[in-house]
Amino acid sequence: MSDHNLPMRAVAASVLLAVENGESLSQCLPPALQYLAPNERPALQALCYGTCRWFHRLDTELNSRLKKPLKNPDRIVHHLMLVALFQLRFSQQATYAILNESVEACRALDKPHLTGLVNGILRSAEREGAPEPANDSSRFSHPVWMVEKLRHNWPDNWQAILEANNAQAPMTLRVNALRFSRDNYLAVLNEAGIEATATAFAPYGIQLSRPVQVDQLPWFAEGAVSVQDEAAQLCTTLLDLAPGQRVLDACAAPGGKTCAILESQAGLAEVVAIDESAARLPRVQENLDRLDLHAELVQADAADTESWWDGQPFDRILLDVPCSASGVIRRHPDIKLLRRETDVVPLAGIQLGLMEAMWSVLKPGGRLVYATCSVFPQENHRIIRRFLKQKNGATLIAPDVQWGFDMGAGRQLLPDPVSHDGFFYAVLEKPEL
Ligand SMILES: C[S@@+](CC[C@H](N)C(=O)[O-])C[C@H]1O[C@@H](n2cnc3c(N)ncnc32)[C@H](O)[C@@H]1O
Repeated sequence: MSDHNLPMRAVAASVLLAVENGESLSQCLPPALQYLAPNERPALQALCYGTCRWFHRLDTELNSRLKKPLKNPDRIVHHLMLVALFQLRFSQQATYAILNESVEACRALDKPHLTGLVNGILRSAEREGAPEPANDSSRFSHPVWMVEKLRHNWPDNWQAILEANNAQAPMTLRVNALRFSRDNYLAVLNEAGIEATATAFAPYGIQLSRPVQVDQLPWFAEGAVSVQDEAAQLCTTLLDLAPGQRVLDACAAPGGKTCAILESQAGLAEVVAIDESAARLPRVQENLDRLDLHAELVQADAADTESWWDGQPFDRILLDVPCSASGVIRRHPDIKLLRRETDVVPLAGIQLGLMEAMWSVLKPGGRLVYATCSVFPQENHRIIRRFLKQKNGATLIAPDVQWGFDMGAGRQLLPDPVSHDGFFYAVLEKPEL
């Protein structure tokens, strides 16, 4: 993109083309937002997220309406039509505006030879209405492999998971326990006219009735609260933190859980936060700075302990591994387009490798909490089972909690349409020498 006067839907089409080509929304949306005036940016974001969320349904419909697929260099017009179809099917916007603006955007994208096609396809889509979904991939708007995997893994819950993945996730806060009690901050929100309730399971969690910009949250910049899903907050309740402990957060960026750990136990001796991504690690420091917290940050492959470990074992380790992110699709609908079925086996290999490496730096008598934001057993309790088979003496702890399903080797939260994300936790202890 080079033209700063592109209409919003042309910018949206270019973002979706980038996602089709493998970029995540968090990579390609921020630069695209700069093409628009600040008051137009939320609408662009909503168009891009909404079109990704309903991509598999809309794409099936569009392909059935096209005589032949649009290929490069015209591929962007396919995405322009997807954006328009998203609005036709899921928004209140007037049809004539969607049609006229899409044709105009087609011209602005320098594709005047395709304006007739855009006009014709959208007119017939409007006239004929949405087709009945031909299969579950289209009905639930997920790739076929995900539908099949979820159906296989969760025979009683797969439809509920798919539906929850298409819902709008709530905005949830974690109150900084070093500054406020949850009740106090709820009262502060109430005074500010922001409707909110305490989360059911996370002790410092507050769920807002409607999302707001963070700068509208009282004392956000001063570190009163952070934005974090309730399921992610639960890590601190499992770590059994106590004063004097040395804690490792092995996959830390952007630092949500590092900060939650530091807030929940002020007397820790040291917190080491590792991430292999040089691009993501500064986000951890930004979060620590805003909350006025301190951790030792290390850029390293956590599995390569020789490269970073000083030989001092850790009392507590949080291992929040890289995963398919299949539990947070409602927050990141681009995962539906980006993730491949073939990603899961290599991810499981990385997860098991990280477990083994972290076990070697855990103190005898120490505790390791394994976490993913996945709902695939391959990355969750099956990793723990595989690990326990290899490591005689690792003790599985069954936490006394009210949330999630007991999987025999860890607990699984499925995404809840009105509260927390999908998440998995397992707690392991290393025997005393
Ligand atoms: C699920 S995210 C962590 C989220 C973070 N714990 C939080 O709550 O904000 C996984 C992180 O692991 C990092 N990562 C992946 N492989 C790693 C490795 N071998 N060593 C260290 N970090 C790794 C990624 O860069 C990514 O930031």
